[in-house]
Amino acid sequence: MLDEKAKKTMLRKIPHGLYICGVKNGEEINGFTVSWLMQTSFKPPLVINGVKRDSGSHEIVKESGVFSISFLDSEQKDLAAKFFKPQRRVGNKLADVEFYSGEETGCPIISDSLGYIECKVVNALEEGDHTIYVGEVIGSGVHRQGEQLLLENTGWQYGG
Ligand SMILES: Cc1cc2nc3c(=O)[nH]c(=O)nc-3n(C[C@H](O)[C@H](O)[C@H](O)COP(=O)(O)O)c2cc1C
Repeated sequence: MLDEKAKKTMLRKIPHGLYICGVKNGEEINGFTVSWLMQTSFKPPLVINGVKRDSGSHEIVKESGVFSISFLDSEQKDLAAKFFKPQRRVGNKLADVEFYSGEETGCPIISDSLGYIECKVVNALEEGDHTIYVGEVIGSGVHRQGEQLLLENTGWQYGG
């Protein structure tokens, strides 16, 4: 038996960081807040990134096969809040945020983040309402020191 309440309680205990996933396809760029991200291989270095199927960014990653991940610091909750709104509703989320294009993928990287990785999609699993994109890390950089923004410290939930 699946106890709905217990399932939600337990799934919400899985710890997560909060990141901005940068996407680009041709001239189109976007970014969105992501928490369902983790490393899954040392060699080659792989991460998995769970991307909501009905988000604007999903189509962009599907077509371009690349994404970036900018690591936020614990004081950048406002930035995470800005990027969890859909582009189709709020327009260009990157308009007033300083960013640059990643050398390997061209995807937007938040300049004031702790650092970043750039990924090339090597596989995708379209199961449920999010697609698991398996990304090989093909670029990375550290911008500065700092404490990482964690979902559990924001009071927000994404899971259950
Ligand atoms: C705390 C939090 C965590 C989130 N984590 C994810 C995630 O891991 N994957 C995802 O696809 N969307 C996640 N989202 C939702 C996206 O940020 C949201 O769907 C966004 O509007 C997509 O933007 P876009 O339509 O401009 O691509 C999260 C939202 C919040 C509030």
